[in-house]
Amino acid sequence: MGRSSAIVVAAGKGERMGGGVKKQFRPLKGRPVLHWALAAIEAAPSIEEIVVVTGASDVAAVAADVKGKFSKVTRVVAGGETRQESVARGLEALGPGTQWVVVHDGARPLVEPALVERVLAAAKESGAATAAVKVKDTIKLVDQYGQVERTLERSRLWAVQTPQAFSRELLERAHAWGKGKQVTDDCGLVEAMGHPVTVVEGSERNLKLTTQEDLAILEALAANGEAQERVPVTGFGLDVHRLAPGRELVLGGVRIPHPLGLSGHSDADVLTHAIMDALLGAAGLGDIGQHFPDTDPAYRGASSLKLLEKVRELVVTAGAQIVHVDAFVSAEAPRLSPYIPDMRRNLAQAMGIGVEWVSIKAGTSEGMGPVGRGEAIEARAVATLMRPSPRFVPSSRDQQAIPAF
Ligand code: CTP
Ligand code: MG
Repeated sequence: MGRSSAIVVAAGKGERMGGGVKKQFRPLKGRPVLHWALAAIEAAPSIEEIVVVTGASDVAAVAADVKGKFSKVTRVVAGGETRQESVARGLEALGPGTQWVVVHDGARPLVEPALVERVLAAAKESGAATAAVKVKDTIKLVDQYGQVERTLERSRLWAVQTPQAFSRELLERAHAWGKGKQVTDDCGLVEAMGHPVTVVEGSERNLKLTTQEDLAILEALAANGEAQERVPVTGFGLDVHRLAPGRELVLGGVRIPHPLGLSGHSDADVLTHAIMDALLGAAGLGDIGQHFPDTDPAYRGASSLKLLEKVRELVVTAGAQIVHVDAFVSAEAPRLSPYIPDMRRNLAQAMGIGVEWVSIKAGTSEGMGPVGRGEAIEARAVATLMRPSPRFVPSSRDQQAIPAF
C-alpha cells in the first residue's frame, strides 16, 4: 500500500498567543506542546517517518531536542512565511518511498494515535481526508455593518482540524496548483481543485493552541486524560496446525530447518496466529478468521508477521495499547529454544513494543496426543492491552439505561 509519512508543522510565530516563548514550545503539564503532538503521531503504527517543520532560527535546537526522543523523526526543516509554505517545505523533505502523507499542526498536542490511523485509512479510500468536529454553536453570516445576513444550517457545519491525510501525489499537485493562493488548510487546496475530501469525526480534545485561554483549557483536558482510568485487559488465543512434508516451518516469523512444515492457507505460523487472536480478543475485535478469511486469495502464503502488523493497527485504531504478550508453543520436534530470541525480536517489532515485553516458551507433549505423535504444533498466547476503563466508555446498553432528566 506504500509508505506513510507525517509532516508536523511548527513554524508559526504564534501571534494570537502574545509574546514570549512560541506556543509550540510552551510547556503543557511540563512537556513542550510539540512533544505531545510528536509522541501521538509516533505512536500511530502506520506512520513510518516524521518530518518536523519549524522556524529557520529554531531548526538546530529542535533537531537536537527530538534526537533520541522520537525515533521516527527523520528530518527537521525550515518552514515559510505561511502555513501553506511550511507544509510545502515539509513535502519536499519527504523520503522517496512515501505514498501517503499525514499533515498535523504541532500546536494540537492532544491528538490521539487512533485518530491519525482513522484519517489515514479514510484518505487511502478517497485520496484526501480530514478530522473535523460538529459545530456546537449556531453560526451566522454577518455583513460589514454588523448585521446578520443569514443563519447557516448547523447540522451540516463541521469545524476542521488536523490530522489531514492525502495521497502524496494529490497533495503535491494541490500545492503546485495553489502556490500564491491563500488557503488555511491543505484540504482547502484539494477541495478547491474539485477533489473530494472525506470528513472523519475528530475529537473536542484535539484543540489547537491559539490563544492564552486555550492553554488553560488544554491543561485541563490533559489532566482529564491522565485521570481517565485505563485498565489492563487480557486476551487469549490458541492455534494448531498439522505438520506435513514439503512445507516450510515458520514460527514467530523465523524459518526453522525441519523435514516437516505446518500446512495451512497462509505461512501457517501458529505462534503468530495465537498471538493475533489474543490481541484481537483483548481489544474486543473478534478473531483472525473474521479479519483475514482463508477464503480470501490475498492471504495465500501471506507472511503472518505482516498480518500481525495489521492487527496492531486495528488494535491502536480501537484506542487500545499493547503492553505484553506471553506465549507457549507445544512441539515434539525440533528443539525450539535456539530460535526463541529471533522469534521474540520479530514479534516485538511487528507489535511495536520492546522485546522484554514478549515472552515465548516451548515444550513437548511427552509423546501424548497429536502434538506428542509429531502430527501437529500448537500455540497458546495471552496478551495484555490497556484500554479505557468501561466506566469512561459506556456500552450501548449503559447509554440506554441513563435516565432522561
Ligand atoms: N505554521 C507553520 N508555518 C507558518 C504558520 C503556521 O508551520 N508560517 C504552523 C503553526 O506552527 C501551527 C499550525 O501551523 O502548528 C497552525 O497555525 P496557527 O495556529 O495559525 O499558528 P501560528 O501561525 O503560529 O499562530 P498565529 O496565527 O496566531 O500567529
Ligand atoms: Mg497562523
